Formats: sequence, C-alpha cells, structure tokens
Amino acid sequence: MSVLDRLGQKLLFSFDPETAHGMSIAALRCGLPLGAPRDARLPTHDARLKVSLCGLDFPNPLGMAAGYDKNAEVPDALLGLGFGFAEVGTITPLPQSGNPKPRIFRLTADEAVINRLGFNNEGHAAAEKRLAARKGRQGIVGVNIGANKDSADRIADYERGVARFAPYASYLTVNISSPNTPGLRNMQAREQLGELLSRVMAARAAATAQRPIFLKIAPDLVEAELEDIAAEVSEKKIDGVIVSNTTLARTGLWSGGLANETGGLSGKPLFERSTAVLARMRKLLGPQMAIIGVGGVDSAEAALEKIRAGADLVQLYTGMIYAGPALPGRIIAGMARLAERERLKSIGELRDSGCAHWSERL
Ligand SMILES: Cc1cc2nc3c(=O)[nH]c(=O)nc-3n(C[C@H](O)[C@H](O)[C@H](O)COP(=O)(O)O)c2cc1C
Repeated sequence: MSVLDRLGQKLLFSFDPETAHGMSIAALRCGLPLGAPRDARLPTHDARLKVSLCGLDFPNPLGMAAGYDKNAEVPDALLGLGFGFAEVGTITPLPQSGNPKPRIFRLTADEAVINRLGFNNEGHAAAEKRLAARKGRQGIVGVNIGANKDSADRIADYERGVARFAPYASYLTVNISSPNTPGLRNMQAREQLGELLSRVMAARAAATAQRPIFLKIAPDLVEAELEDIAAEVSEKKIDGVIVSNTTLARTGLWSGGLANETGGLSGKPLFERSTAVLARMRKLLGPQMAIIGVGGVDSAEAALEKIRAGADLVQLYTGMIYAGPALPGRIIAGMARLAERERLKSIGELRDSGCAHWSERL
C-alpha cells in the first residue's frame, strides 16, 4: 500500500465503518483521485485478461461486488479504479432504512467485516434515475435486485426489478442470499426457487431488453441444497450463478467480542468456504454455465485461485476496505504478470484447473 493510501485508510478507520463508507462514496462521487490507478501503465485493458461471457465483453475479470454502491451513485468511478465491471445494489422496489445502527463491524485482526445492514437503499425510482442518466455510457454495470422486508409478495419484487432495470443493466443479479432479511434465504429451497426463477425468467421475456440473469447464493448450503439449486438453475435456463454472499459461520476468527455480532461475515475468513462452494457448483453445473466467484479476494493470487476453482469472473468488496482503492489495479497487474509468465493467451485458460481439488474441500 502506498503512503497516500495508508494515510487515507488511517483516516477512514478513525470513523465508524458506515460513516467511512459514506465518505468513500462521497470521495468517488466528487472524482477525488483516491487510489485511482495512478500508474497509467496498469494493464486494465490487457487483451489476455478479456473475458467474453453471456454476450458481454468484460475488459478484465475483476468486478466490484454488490453492497458497496447500493444506490448506483458511483458505478463509473468504480470502473475508473480499474474494475472490469461494477455491480450496484441490492435495490428493492421501495426505499427502506434497514436495521438499527451500528450494523457494520470491522474485525481488523481477521481482515473481515460483519454486516447486518438489511438492504438499506433508496429504492427503484432513485436508482433508475441515476442509471438512466448514464445510459449509453461504456462499461459493464450489473444491477442487483432484492425484495422489501415487508413485501406481501417477494417474488413480485424481483419481477418488478427485472422490468425496471432491464433497459439500463448490463446484467441482473437475483439476490436471495442476504442473511439480513428474515426468511430471504429460504427462497433458495427448491420449491420456492423454482417458482422464483420461473417468474423472473417470464419477467425477462416480457421486458423491453433481454439481459443475462445471475443468481447469487449463500456459502452456508449443504450438498443436497447445492444440487437442488444447480438443478433449478439449469432447468430454468438462468445465465449464471454468483458464489457467494456473506456467511453466518464464525469459524477460525481471531477477533474477540465483535465476532459475536449478528450478521453476515465477509473478507479473508470467507475465502476458503466460498471457493469450495464455487468449485462444487462448477462440478454440478458443467463447463457452459457462467460462474462469478466472490468471497475473501484480496490479492491477484486469491483472484486467480477463484478462476482455477471454476470462476469465469471474480468480485470483491471487503478486500478494498483493508487494502484501499488501489487494490483492483494491483490485482489486475498481478493477473497480467501471471499471464505473461505462463505464456497464456487468455486468463480463462486457467479456469477449472483447481476445480477437483477445491470441490473436495467442501
Ligand atoms: C457492508 C456490506 C454490504 C453488502 N451488501 C450487499 C448487498 O446489498 N447485496 C449483495 O448481494 N451482497 C452484499 N454484500 C456481499 C458482497 O457482495 C460479497 O458477496 C461478500 O461480501 C463477499 O465478498 P468479500 O469477501 O470480497 O466482501 C455486502 C457485503 C458487505 C461487506
């Protein structure tokens, strides 16, 4: 980390995590060059890092995960940090304030975070306005959609999300894996999932633009549940799966009291489990299905390991809290170096080379 990034991080860490998050969004909104790739030679557009997937051409395989830019305020600034794509949201039809504060906790000794935000966001209309204003701009921006906590028909909330954001989103993510909306994760059970995916695909067919649809799943699923999800995803012809959201598990943490906070854990301690689940999903879904790997990525090595385990693309969030906004540029540079050293024509050549090994670790 550069001196400037270290100072920036020290400043942000002197505030509570949610205030710090707001400050970082404000900085990006104002175009502050906080960590933007200062080195013009960064290979963010190296031909060997390009990935073509579901009809989209990603300049590199690293994306910003959902939850950082919940209200679609700074997708272009995120792309400016070097990310090959940015996912905004989770966005629910109506605005909602989420759970009482404090609701984000830094587990510094573990390079992890626990959050129980509960889909705090400004709702469809506010995000649509911002996305409409950037329509026609370059850059892959996915929209992650969710359901309101008090919705009488949660599936209808996802249908509305598809209809509303299809004109603006490069892809849509159906998020049913947040642990912070009571009962949401039950939608991963086979019967509910079948109905959700049928209705979401029907909403897509009726929408003004046909966008790839990804399903984001939890890491806390047993083999039989993963098999059910894989069967439904294949049957309903969903375009891909994002593995994974945050975990309810608390194994192997160094941090004391804060580890007992309720919520989803992200960051370094999630890497192992989320990568094993990703590899298992690759085995179950076969080579054609798109898979995005997320959970504990904080270096080029970790990102490459996700690809070896079976990911076409990789996302991160918590890693940037600890390493600063220069992290995406560093990861992409590391990937390009490996491609050079191994004489790869495309980074995708690595995909699945560690799938057997990782899927056995489940
Ligand atoms: C503060 C915070 C808020 C999040 N909010 C969302 C969200 O709204 N929707 C979503 O799909 N994932 C959300 N996530 C999960 C991340 O997208 C990601 O799946 C998870 O954090 C694992 O990646 P990481 O270890 O790189 O952070 C959130 C994560 C954090 C830390």
